Amino acid sequence: MFAEKYADRVEFLTPSSIRKMMAIAKELVAHGKTVYELNIGQPDIECIPEFCEAIEKKAKTGQLNYSPYVGEKYLRETYARYLNNFFDRRSKAHLVIDTENVLVTVGASHALTSTFLTVCNPGDEVLTIEPYFSPYKGFLAIAGGTLKAIPTRAEDNFALPSAEEMEKLITPKTRAIIFNSPNNPSGHIYNAKEVECLARLCIKHNLFLISDEVYREMTIGDQEAFSVLQLDLGDEEMNEKLKNALIVIDSASKTFSLCGVRIGFVISRQPILEKIGLVVAHTTACVSDIMQYGVAGAYDAILSRPDYLENMRSVYRERLEETMRAISEYLPDVVAPKPDGAFYIMIKFPEFEDITEFCHFMLEKFNLGGETVAVTPAGGFYLTRDRGRNEIRIALVVSPEKMRRSIQIIAEALKAFRQFKVNLVRPML
Ligand SMILES: Cc1ncc(COP(=O)(O)O)c(C=O)c1O
Repeated sequence: MFAEKYADRVEFLTPSSIRKMMAIAKELVAHGKTVYELNIGQPDIECIPEFCEAIEKKAKTGQLNYSPYVGEKYLRETYARYLNNFFDRRSKAHLVIDTENVLVTVGASHALTSTFLTVCNPGDEVLTIEPYFSPYKGFLAIAGGTLKAIPTRAEDNFALPSAEEMEKLITPKTRAIIFNSPNNPSGHIYNAKEVECLARLCIKHNLFLISDEVYREMTIGDQEAFSVLQLDLGDEEMNEKLKNALIVIDSASKTFSLCGVRIGFVISRQPILEKIGLVVAHTTACVSDIMQYGVAGAYDAILSRPDYLENMRSVYRERLEETMRAISEYLPDVVAPKPDGAFYIMIKFPEFEDITEFCHFMLEKFNLGGETVAVTPAGGFYLTRDRGRNEIRIALVVSPEKMRRSIQIIAEALKAFRQFKVNLVRPML
């Protein structure tokens, strides 16, 4: 009845599978069911205390005001110091970030939407590495753009196709390549050679290279992530072109367990940031000033005590190890590559063609001692038709004991589901 009143762009917006499962899980929890919510990257770790202290201090001033549209200078300065320090502490050569290279946004989500609105016209295309963070599709749809896949496979350890193969995917409408490392959902970290290959492709075809580094701090294997900011293409002209192509996305959400605070960043050359900043100004006016003060407190704190992040990494490593052990114990027939970063595991169930029905069955119809598990069917992380339909993604967002229990519940739910399907096809009297 209202359809003809809506703009065309909302036709392309549908709730993601992550959000659908979240809504059902929340409803069940409200009715007293215990649900291990492994379906969303919402860390259970307590947020860094310096955030709360800074918020309290700011609130007590009684002055909560509009902020400059590019963000509070104090936060932009602190973040630039943090980012330079991130590389310096590891003795990695890098492009030096200044306050003017930092724009504050309402989480990485807003950083991405604003970036797409800045670089894409309706009908334009952006390439992304598949499996990919599924909300990119909607963020880009707001700008009228279409996301196209660079397919990779768990069986090849998510290695990128050759430059020649990727080049075939570039059309006159392509405006950018976006990639995310460490990767959600695969946990893969792209190495220096792969990142350089993407950069050279972007320079050759005059594209932006958008590097989503929200899991920069979340390395849970032996490998460090390689940032686009570490690239050196060997000659001045190429490095100059590189600087004009780079757009880095970051967020306080995962680093400090501050998902609900909604502070993110775009890091780029000043003229690019100025344009993205205007999109921010014309969509949200500015970002919450009190939250910016809180987040500045958090980045400031880790400059003097980086052990906060080391502790966080060990918490996730412990969960990962226990979950991998539980998977090999309870789910011997699945394929589950061990991730190097972020905090997700993709699990492939070869016995299924489409695992969505099982995920809903486990959440809505099954329990083991009153407990069940919410997981995300992974089809939404692929653009290529029929890929990922027998995979799920789980997030390492509860204690090692609860992760183990969740895997046990999934195994028991599988047995119950098989029986449920057998009963369905039994002939009736
Ligand atoms: C790869 C990736 N990029 C961006 C985001 C969005 O983060 P934010 O909470 O800052 O909007 C997420 C959140 O899960 C993510 O996984």
